[in-house]
Parts: sequence; structure tokens; C-alpha cells
Amino acid sequence: MRTIAVMNQKGGVGKTTTSVNLAAGLAKRGKRVLVADLDPQAHASLHLGIEIAGDTPTIYQAFTGECPLSRIRRLVGPHLWLLPANIDLAATELELADTPGRELILREAVNALVAEEHYDYLIMDCPPSLSVLTINALSCADEVVIPLQPHFLALHGLSKLFETTALVTRRLNRKLKVSGIVLCMYETSTRLAADIADDLQAFLSQSDPEAPWSKAKIFENRIRRNIKLAEAPSHGLSIFDYSPKCPGSMDYMGLCDEVLAMEATERMPLAKAG
Ligand SMILES: Nc1ncnc2c1ncn2[C@@H]1O[C@H](COP(=O)(O)OP(=O)(O)O)[C@@H](O)[C@H]1O
Ligand SMILES: [Mg+2]
Repeated sequence: MRTIAVMNQKGGVGKTTTSVNLAAGLAKRGKRVLVADLDPQAHASLHLGIEIAGDTPTIYQAFTGECPLSRIRRLVGPHLWLLPANIDLAATELELADTPGRELILREAVNALVAEEHYDYLIMDCPPSLSVLTINALSCADEVVIPLQPHFLALHGLSKLFETTALVTRRLNRKLKVSGIVLCMYETSTRLAADIADDLQAFLSQSDPEAPWSKAKIFENRIRRNIKLAEAPSHGLSIFDYSPKCPGSMDYMGLCDEVLAMEATERMPLAKAG
């Protein structure tokens, strides 16, 4: 299973849109995909058509230890499952403050789930903060994918984000790597977006080869600004179900195929060795 945390401490950069549509696209390509909604705003859950009412368990009950993930996850489409969230999740930061090992709760819960059920991908939609929920996602993930809106302050927040991944790599999860950066809400008509993509490439090429982001790629499929992507969540549908032929669908399917292609290149050395 590939485990991917979609993370950026800024809000409104395209984390949820990327998490949901990447997961939905991978499922359309036949992969078994689980989405974990780790944001108390529950936007990923709503985007996938799930609004939690009453006593239905959410991912919050996994953090409190009340409920295993096998009772929380639900089927939201062919090959596509969701661990839904609701506003209760906002309490975890305070409630877990004194809990030893609180950074590893999600990882342990996921390990218990995948001992029983097979998934090809776990995609985690992180909240816009470096909270205990984000740290749980990073402790559980092998890969970080960073959605970035290319405007002129975009690179500023990035170094903070990279430092956090480096810290988690050292302390909690040696396997963690930043695998890629997705340029979201890309304006094809402006020079600025292209300049920022170039600056970012230069920054990555100069980085310390030991750093967890040294092999990060800037995905070639840039996600253009497309109104259909903003409309789809209110219909509770992924872009592929809402508007399969729009530019947003094409951009996200291209991204899915790049993510799938990384799988092939990663496996190659193993196949040779075997
Ligand atoms: N490529 C895009 N084109 C147009 N609107 C987009 C695009 N990507 C995201 N949006 C919209 O921008 C807003 C913020 O995106 P979202 O994915 O929710 O960001 P985050 O999860 O980082 O806060 C949402 O209303 C979303 O529908
Ligand atoms: Mg979000």
C-alpha cells in the first residue's frame, strides 16, 4: 500500500480538491483506495457526498480509541472508501495533549485495518495547520504530496513545511519522503506562475541530497483553475463524476497517471533484484 499525506499548512491551496480527485482517479484506474479525512472541517467527506449525522462513527473515534477503522470506513464509490470526519475532530488537539504516543495513533489504527483488508492507496487530507492530526498523517505516510498555489509568497511557507517533514522523518518515521509538488489553481496566462515553478525547481535541485524532499518532483500535470473543480464539492461528487470532460478532470487524471507511473519506477529495482 502506498500511503500519501496531502499536506500544506496553508488553507485554500487545493489540498482537499487534490486528495479527493487523486483518490477518485486512482479508484477509476482500478486501484483500491482509502481516503482519510483529517480535517475537522470535513470538506473531503462532503466532497465525497458524506455528511455525518447522529452517532455514526467518524475518524475521531479512532483517535479516542473507541472504534476500529474497519467500523468507520465506508464505501463511497467503486474501489473507493472514506474514513469520514466531522467537527468533533477539532477536539483531538486538546484531548490528546497528555496522551503518550499520540503522534502514532493513526499509524497503529491503519496497521490494524490493513492486517484485515487490502488497499492499494491511503490518501490523507490534512488540515491547514501543523497540528497533532497532521503529525499523525506524517507518521503514517510514506509520501507527502504538497499542493501549492503558485503566487509570489508560495515558496515562503514551503521551507517551514519541509522542516516539519524533516523533523517527523528524524523522530517518528524514517521512511517519509516528499514525493511531489502539485501546482494547483494554475494560471496558464500569467508569467508569474511559470516563474514560480522555475524557482521551485531550482530550489529542489540545490537541496541537500539527504533531505526528505531532495527527490521531490514537480508534477508535470499542473491543475489549471477550473470552475467545475469548485462546483463539484457542493454536489458531493468527484470531478470525474461531476464533469468527466472538463479541463479539471483531464488535469487530475493526468496527475493520477503520473502518481501511478512513480509506482512502476519504484518497483523496478525490486523486480530486477528478485
Ligand atoms: N484548480 C481549481 N480551480 C478552481 N477552483 C479550485 C481549484 N482547486 C481548488 N479550488 C477551490 O478552491 C477552494 C480551496 O480548495 P481546497 O481544495 O478546499 O483547499 P484546501 O483543502 O487546501 O483548503 C475550494 O473552494 C475549491 O473548490
Ligand atoms: Mg481542505
